[in-house]
Amino acid sequence: MNEPHLTDREVECVAACVKTGWVSSSGPLIEEFEQKWGQYCGRQYAVSVCNGTAALQTAVAGLRLDAGDEVIMPTFTIISCASAILYDAGTPVLVDADPRTWTMNVEQIANKITSRTKAIMVVHIYGHPVDMDPIIALADRHGLAIIEDAAEAHGAEYLAGRNTASPQWKRCGSFGTASCFSFYANKLITTGEGGMVLTDDPKLADRFRSLRNLYFQPERRFAHAELGFNFRLTNIQAALGLAQFERMDQIVAKERWIGHEYTKRLEGIPGLQLPVEESWAKSVYWMYGVVLSKDTGMDALGFAKKMADRGVDTRPFFLGMHEQPALKRRGLFQDERYPVAERLAKQGLYLPSGLGLTEEQLAEVVEAVREVLQ
Ligand SMILES: Cc1ncc(COP(=O)(O)O)c(C=O)c1O
Repeated sequence: MNEPHLTDREVECVAACVKTGWVSSSGPLIEEFEQKWGQYCGRQYAVSVCNGTAALQTAVAGLRLDAGDEVIMPTFTIISCASAILYDAGTPVLVDADPRTWTMNVEQIANKITSRTKAIMVVHIYGHPVDMDPIIALADRHGLAIIEDAAEAHGAEYLAGRNTASPQWKRCGSFGTASCFSFYANKLITTGEGGMVLTDDPKLADRFRSLRNLYFQPERRFAHAELGFNFRLTNIQAALGLAQFERMDQIVAKERWIGHEYTKRLEGIPGLQLPVEESWAKSVYWMYGVVLSKDTGMDALGFAKKMADRGVDTRPFFLGMHEQPALKRRGLFQDERYPVAERLAKQGLYLPSGLGLTEEQLAEVVEAVREVLQ
């Protein structure tokens, strides 16, 4: 579905790291990886962590929520977003998905702001940026933090200030009070498992570093002023990340090629909604998703079976947070309905989108889609 693209260079860098003996969370490669990733995203401070879920947890914990403080987030995302808020005793407040981009419906946010709202969590879904301008304006007006989840959007860009005299393309990961990444094996850049939190606030960066490392104090080892986590990334993982990062432009170009090529070849097949790329966005098509219309008489599950019969693996879309048994059992989101997210969850799935995908394989996938739908 989305296999990592690993070369001799990765083997060389990891082997060289192992030979130095710096295999744990001390070692020069961690800072180098943080510095390069932070710079790539245009940020002052970067704190690596052990996965994307931990990045979100660190970012939310960094805000020091009081019990019951609210964070507005999309229902259509991964559960890590909601769990990060809940672990910190916050309350996730949901908005539906946008029917075009599948990212959060920006127009629904204002109505969800209350005196308890502390932050807006934005998630760039499947490599397409969220429309950030209105969110930044709302956050500024109400004094809210922005937690940006760019786990799926390495290298994606957003045209900030498109209604101003000086619009500017900016990378995803450059917008949050805290911006989070995952480097899981199916992401554009991988460290096996890994993540990062970016910020421009030096105090917040210090807090993230403390939270990552059990809140050790410099004054007295083993005296802890607060409870932290062990979310450390290792030097070996950083070595892998640095080797991957050398090919960043190539990786982004390949993912964009896959996205555009699928769209070119699938356009016109009836019953299929394809991903959009808004004029203000440069998507990286982390996963190439399609949504089946109900007239096909099929849901994603039925379609996936027929694709599997033709030797093509697919994956279903996210299930909205308001439909998650684990969250409903906590009494959350009772009777809340988000029709767009519900339709996406039922009718959406993604096609093979890995960096190793060849033109021939892509053509085979398209042929299988055509056979199933025509
Ligand atoms: C949008 C989003 N956020 C967070 C995560 C969590 O990342 P990880 O799997 O590294 O914990 C993922 C994982 O796929 C994701 O897609």
